[in-house]
Amino acid sequence: MRSRHLRYPLLLGVVAGGAVFGYASAIERNWFALRMLEVPVLSPGTPPLRLLHISDTHLTPGRSRLLSWLRSLDALDPDLVINTGDSIAHRDAVQPLLDALGPLLERPGAFVYGSNDLYSPTPKNPTRYLWRTSQSDRRRHIPDLPTGELGEGMRAAGWLDLNNHRGRLKAGDLDIDVAGIHDSHIHRDRYDKIAGPADPHADLRLGVLHSPEPRNLDRFVADGYDLLLAGHTHGGQVCVPLFGTLVTNCGIDRARAKGLSRYPDPATGPAWLHVSAGLGTSPWAPVRFACRPEATLLTLVPRIG
Ligand SMILES: [Fe+2]
Repeated sequence: MRSRHLRYPLLLGVVAGGAVFGYASAIERNWFALRMLEVPVLSPGTPPLRLLHISDTHLTPGRSRLLSWLRSLDALDPDLVINTGDSIAHRDAVQPLLDALGPLLERPGAFVYGSNDLYSPTPKNPTRYLWRTSQSDRRRHIPDLPTGELGEGMRAAGWLDLNNHRGRLKAGDLDIDVAGIHDSHIHRDRYDKIAGPADPHADLRLGVLHSPEPRNLDRFVADGYDLLLAGHTHGGQVCVPLFGTLVTNCGIDRARAKGLSRYPDPATGPAWLHVSAGLGTSPWAPVRFACRPEATLLTLVPRIG
């Protein structure tokens, strides 16, 4: 009798769990969202700029919906495209990614790498993120993904490689001083190589990094960068409705795991920070819940007052 009382709740739990997993893996993971945000970051009188921020595609073969959605983003007519890394998750993903970026690559653009552009994904217990970040995972030292081919494809199209590099971009009518770092999560960030004051005469000072690690964000702000773009967090990837992100997998606080905020002071900045929740997932954790995959069109406009 007692076992029958237990059997029904257990069965109900298994059915409910299966339904949630099915939704998270088959539906929400392919339910791409375009976020549109306005950022009052430019000096008065500067013309607006449409900046498309993509991140964390984690491309594997067969993700045709992701590729066709990515291809559709060119219709937004962005002035500038920034890719904050973790673009691939398989050695055969580079050419499909470049093909899907297609016309976006003909626009002004820049990129940094994330750890997943170097190292193929391995199976991990996803619940470990609840008590530690993946930065403490056993480190691999020999990249096994075609990172060079990926970078060459974007560089050949004219995109700036910002992995521990600075550069200058002309996008729309704006002259942009831009700098970026390689992924801090695998200890390849070398801020010292880009350190120094950003050009106060540029129309915009843009900092680009994969993981929004506060120690690096702080250095960009100290050097005078106005807008910082990052990815890596996946917005928590599996979130709790009405509560939000459980983990960020780095040093940033949960409130800034995705979206636009002022940094370091949430009220006064002085910088703006946009963290993309990204477009993909690790193939070993192919779910998204209450955290749709996304790209963001940031319209940069003059500051108020
Ligand atoms: Fe990622």
